[in-house]
Amino acid sequence: MSDNIYLPKMGRIIDVNSEVEGARAIKTFRVEFVNGDGFDHECGQCAMLSVFGKGESMISIASSPLIKEYKQFSIMRVGRVTTAIHDMEIGDVIGVRGPYGNNFPVEDWKGKNLIFIGGGCGLAPIWPIIQTAVLQRKDFKDITVFYGGRSSRDIMYAKELEKLRGDAEVHLSIDSEEEGWNEFCGFVPTNVMDKSPSPKNAIAITCGPPIMIKFVIQNLKGAGFEDTQIYTTIENKMKCGIGKCGRCNVGKDYVCTKGPVYSWADLKELPQEY
Ligand SMILES: Cc1cc2nc3c(=O)[nH]c(=O)nc-3n(C[C@H](O)[C@H](O)[C@H](O)COP(=O)(O)OP(=O)(O)OC[C@H]3O[C@@H](n4cnc5c(N)ncnc54)[C@H](O)[C@@H]3O)c2cc1C
Ligand code: FES
Repeated sequence: MSDNIYLPKMGRIIDVNSEVEGARAIKTFRVEFVNGDGFDHECGQCAMLSVFGKGESMISIASSPLIKEYKQFSIMRVGRVTTAIHDMEIGDVIGVRGPYGNNFPVEDWKGKNLIFIGGGCGLAPIWPIIQTAVLQRKDFKDITVFYGGRSSRDIMYAKELEKLRGDAEVHLSIDSEEEGWNEFCGFVPTNVMDKSPSPKNAIAITCGPPIMIKFVIQNLKGAGFEDTQIYTTIENKMKCGIGKCGRCNVGKDYVCTKGPVYSWADLKELPQEY
């Protein structure tokens, strides 16, 4: 019975933080495994979270693998399962199976400048790398974070981003002007173009809405980044998470096992259906 690959481990919610309110609400949950169960993960990997009677959803693990006490998940409320998770409170038990997918090759990036570009809920999948780089600060060169939301109320990890300024250059943006906003106004790709990060000894990691990723990559290419210096993740709909059901395929790839992390060099080779 314990070998059942679909059997979730039990996690207890130990912290809930409301990041963004409204129609596109985002909450961050910290979950500790119960009964001494659990698993290690790598940056970029995901877990299938389950709520009894509601179903399962694939969610990125949004905490560094170096943090062993809990796993963090930042979840946008879009439908049945994510609404059920948003209704959960500290002390509630949630099913967690994983870890699934490949990972960002963070070890290979030691000694390099890291440029993170996130939009909306897309900060969550890249946050484990940012946390890892900060926890191992001496192993990496400059860290630059671009992050944007539609408005100031849509900025997630607001406190964490402020704290990050001690270790990294942080460039925030919102789509249009607002009273009291002193940072960039405009879309994330435009902010990147405005600051024009150098491709020298750099890796750029981007995650967010597909339209943002498209223009970010276009701008990075224009700034001289090679395809192999650009990484992203893709979030195809998934069911099993383990390469069995075929729900997530793009061309020959099952994204749940071959992805979700891709270099732009590899992603370009896939059919444009993701
Ligand atoms: C690898 C991976 C990592 C992910 N990481 C996160 C994360 O960190 N945080 C987070 O909030 N979400 C993440 N997602 C998306 C999340 O899995 C879906 O939003 C969730 O499963 C929706 O479930 P639901 O039952 O609430 O919505 P449903 O009731 O099933 O659907 C509600 C709406 O959302 C759409 N939808 C459902 N799944 C997806 C999807 N994968 N992509 C686009 N639209 C979808 C449906 O078409 C429908 O319009 C990730 C998905 C993948 C594949
Ligand atoms: S989700 Fe089933 S094969 Fe990928």
